[in-house]
Amino acid sequence: MKFDVLTLFPEMFEPLKKSIIGKAIEKQILELNLINIRDFSKDKHKKVDDTPYGGGAGMVMMPEVVYDAYSSVSNKEQAKVIYLSPQGKILNQKKVEELSKESHLILICGHYEGIDQRVLDEIVDEEISIGDYVLTGGEIPAMVLIDSVSRYVGGVLKQESIKEESHASGLLEYPQYTRPEIFHGEKVPEVLLSGHHENIKKWRKEQSLQITKQKRPDLLEK
Ligand SMILES: C[S@@+](CC[C@H](N)C(=O)[O-])C[C@H]1O[C@@H](n2cnc3c(N)ncnc32)[C@H](O)[C@@H]1O
Repeated sequence: MKFDVLTLFPEMFEPLKKSIIGKAIEKQILELNLINIRDFSKDKHKKVDDTPYGGGAGMVMMPEVVYDAYSSVSNKEQAKVIYLSPQGKILNQKKVEELSKESHLILICGHYEGIDQRVLDEIVDEEISIGDYVLTGGEIPAMVLIDSVSRYVGGVLKQESIKEESHASGLLEYPQYTRPEIFHGEKVPEVLLSGHHENIKKWRKEQSLQITKQKRPDLLEK
């Protein structure tokens, strides 16, 4: 799967190049292209923003520079263009799964007061938010989207582990335990040591329901 990210701060994406996502990039299961919007500024000082028409606080990213950065992406006609925005539809597991079926996403990260509406109207297919709060830029939301979507891309993770995780089936996951068998006097639940797969499955399902009821009753209502 290919991600082209339009950003003013490509260096913010370094953490994505570590751990599981980093390995998938190395193995070329994922392709991550960081496009610096500033490189497309025709201004001698590389200016990318200006004051808002109508007045008000902050700066707005200018349309031409964003459009030119977008135009530089190869095969963009087949890609889905997403603008990370606090005004977008909230990202959830269903949306993550849906996006993982795409083969090419172009992610646009705003900064400051955001991006001139005219270029957004022209190139964006969908706006996505990571929650009802405002961040300084779209870089962290883009990383959240790339990480969550990539987990569903074949070869990035073992697919069985995804199926049982929180939100995959609408429930939260059961508690997990590893060695040692006794920690600070607390023993691992006996059933997990029994080797009885059916009983373990049943126990996990019950735990899953109980935990969801306790922590997120709204999910059970859904
Ligand atoms: C300070 S915000 C601009 C907010 C904008 N003035 C508004 O009130 O809707 C700057 C950029 O951060 C990103 N951003 C901020 N909060 C976000 C969120 N919750 N989800 C996704 N992107 C977000 C967007 O790309 C946005 O253009």
